Amino acid sequence: MIGIFEKLALPFLRALDPEDAHGMAIRLLKYAPLPPAARDDGRLGMRAFGLNFPNPVGMAAGFDKNAEVPDALLRAGFGFVEVGTITPLPQPGNPRPRLFRLNADGGVINRLGFNSQGADAALARLAARADAGGIVGINVGANKDSPDRVADYVTLIERFAAVASYVTVNISSPNTPGLRNLQQASVLDDLLARVVDARDRVTRNSGPTPVLLKIAPDLALGDLDDVVGIARRRRVDGMIVGNTTVARPPGLRDSKTAAEAGGLSGRPLLALADRMLAETFVRVEGVFPIVGAGGIDSGEAALGKIRAGASLIQVYSGLVFRGLGLVAEIKQALLHALDRDRQDSIKEFIGADAAAATAEPWPS
Ligand SMILES: Cc1cc2nc3c(=O)[nH]c(=O)nc-3n(C[C@H](O)[C@H](O)[C@H](O)COP(=O)(O)O)c2cc1C
Repeated sequence: MIGIFEKLALPFLRALDPEDAHGMAIRLLKYAPLPPAARDDGRLGMRAFGLNFPNPVGMAAGFDKNAEVPDALLRAGFGFVEVGTITPLPQPGNPRPRLFRLNADGGVINRLGFNSQGADAALARLAARADAGGIVGINVGANKDSPDRVADYVTLIERFAAVASYVTVNISSPNTPGLRNLQQASVLDDLLARVVDARDRVTRNSGPTPVLLKIAPDLALGDLDDVVGIARRRRVDGMIVGNTTVARPPGLRDSKTAAEAGGLSGRPLLALADRMLAETFVRVEGVFPIVGAGGIDSGEAALGKIRAGASLIQVYSGLVFRGLGLVAEIKQALLHALDRDRQDSIKEFIGADAAAATAEPWPS
């Protein structure tokens, strides 16, 4: 059924301006929900951060920024959905055009800049579906003009703990000037101290709310040493590796669009994102799970992400080119790999290639 829906919808959506197509996709999911995906094979289950995921394939942040369609996405077969980025106050983001497809490369560039309806709107929607079940995390960010960005993260954790399965602290968007400076050791230590303190305080009323840290794939390895060291010391529950890249790998075919400012995602990001994931995995030493995102557009890329160190994976840009059928394709490929290797859990694959990957030449 998803196949028929997509065959009709995808060419239509791809003919539109990218941001109009995105708005249309949200409306389609809201008003013409898809039939439910088949029940997941038990071997795809994954326990991480104290949560039981029915399968490891998540919707990455940025698609459902305002928490409008998490349940339609769960129905379509995702094992979890990350809504957001939400900022405390509504803000418009950058002027359009701010979203670009690199069709020849399977890539996307965005400089949306945290366009957000703000915390109140998302909170009302998540509260209304709080008993619906399924794993829905929220990705939080600071307002562009905030006088105290760290306080923005703390407030959002306090406000969303009761209605979100987990909270992602996003300090890695390239489109809010200065945001990624929060990844610098001295600033990050203070941020995570206050964020973890907020998490521990809200636990008393709302139960455990895991807090994940989402980082950029553009960190230098020395900085990654610091970030992982601080994340471990401050006891975050996990990390997401990672966000879009400000780099432009050589050989992009859509060279005119590639010159647009913003974060690049999709297939051209895969090699860098996998390498940063492997580098993170060897530094984390199993202390917490890692969510792998960046460039997954096939079952093979999904398995590669898990073998590079991901306990869970997230997709976004791949869906733009492949449609929602990609989710079923990934699950099928993971089951096939389990059969082939006579394993009964995808846990067996996590990080299997990480050490070897870190010895390779840096991907260009
Ligand atoms: C249009 C667009 C908007 C995004 N918005 C956000 C966002 O608001 N917050 C965030 O943490 N990541 C955001 N991302 C990054 C994705 O969550 C993901 O980390 C990145 O795109 C890499 O995955 P992909 O190659 O599968 O797209 C966005 C990505 C795209 C393409």
